[in-house]
Amino acid sequence: MELGPFGGVEVYKQRRQKLFEKIKSGVFVLYAHPEQIRNNDVHHPYRQDSTLHYLTGFPEPEGICVLTANTTTPQFILFVRRRDPTRELWDGFRYGVEGTGKYFGADKVYPIDEFDKVFLDLLKGAEKIYYRLNENHEHDQQILGLLEKHKVSQGRSNRGPLDICDSKQIVGEMRLIKSAYEQELHRKACDISAEGHLAAMRATKPGLWEYQIQAICEMEFRMRGSERLGYGSIVGTGANATVLHYIFNNDQLKDGQMLLIDAGAEYGYFSGDITRSYPVNGKFTRSQRRIYEAVLKAQKATVDFVKPGKRLADVHKFATERIIEQMLEIGLMKGDAKKIYDDKSHAKYFPHGTSHWLGMDVHDSGYYQINGEPRILEPGMCFSVEPGLYVPADDKEAPSEFRGIGIRIEDDVYVTEKGCENLTIKAPKEVEELEEVIGRVR
Ligand code: GLY
Ligand code: MN
Ligand code: MN
Repeated sequence: MELGPFGGVEVYKQRRQKLFEKIKSGVFVLYAHPEQIRNNDVHHPYRQDSTLHYLTGFPEPEGICVLTANTTTPQFILFVRRRDPTRELWDGFRYGVEGTGKYFGADKVYPIDEFDKVFLDLLKGAEKIYYRLNENHEHDQQILGLLEKHKVSQGRSNRGPLDICDSKQIVGEMRLIKSAYEQELHRKACDISAEGHLAAMRATKPGLWEYQIQAICEMEFRMRGSERLGYGSIVGTGANATVLHYIFNNDQLKDGQMLLIDAGAEYGYFSGDITRSYPVNGKFTRSQRRIYEAVLKAQKATVDFVKPGKRLADVHKFATERIIEQMLEIGLMKGDAKKIYDDKSHAKYFPHGTSHWLGMDVHDSGYYQINGEPRILEPGMCFSVEPGLYVPADDKEAPSEFRGIGIRIEDDVYVTEKGCENLTIKAPKEVEELEEVIGRVR
């Protein structure tokens, strides 16, 4: 096992350095993600909180990261589990105090059970604290209790409790703009995700089950070095594809149906997020092709529309207008495009947004609005472009040829200086490309 943070200590140090400059004379505190019990003494697989990973690379639960900017020299302090031969026999290696000090570049490391005592000392001279309230009740109790003690210890100073600012928003804004190194990791996560989709396409044929396609896609992710999924895979055949977050994945693929797969691999704590839709038997019917190409045209035009200076709200408006045009073109809706847009009747078939930030979390951090206005896109921001059309099977108003079809096409794009880079273009989406690969097991 390679010890220390993924990619080495330097990248985390640079991120902390930037954060120190922002928190001025505050104290920043962030807990590791708690372990989740599945049942009895069995846990769900552990994944570190993305923000804690971003700042430290420390992979263990029951840790706390504190950054103090209230001292002459800013300090990076970690509180970690003590080593424990019995627990390590059952659960595996822990860094402990010494190992954490050696590998993670912390100025000081303490056992987690000394947090209460040490933290009060660290608060001396602080003007505010950065902490996320209401995420974990136990952590809130601990921090609020310590802040009360801190206030009492101030005696007659006329100071009230320390102001609490949110810890994750301030880092969220940093995470939103990805560095060249972060983009490299993300590119790899997206490449792996595309290969998983390709493997699933090659294996797809009538008679298989949704979970079998899921297994093939996810096996390819793991075989290519992905640590885990970015989110639970959605594999929906036929009308299951009209359920936006379908997760049962337990139906059989039937000849003549369309299949929708929304799946993304995680690599280096970055997530891909790709959706592809295609016919189970490898050949689009005329109707399937019409509705598929309607979404494809809108999706490709929207990717081309992305550039710095635009806003996600513009991207969504543009995608929605294109989707409405296409719905009118194929006869899925009738009427006037502007009226449909204004009264939002398109939402019956395109009910979700076009984009979300993407990075270490599939729905990533960073404000969508600044001072109540949609923010301007800048190079280094990454988001999904994922319009879709979903026609319920029992929709009497829709032409019968489209009923029970759900199409979403989703790519991940980076804003560049002049436009955008599509990181997931390797997953086929043109009709001819798809018909070439579906069912062609190598
Ligand atoms: N895979 C979740 C999403 O597309 O937002
Ligand atoms: Mn998705
Ligand atoms: Mn998405």
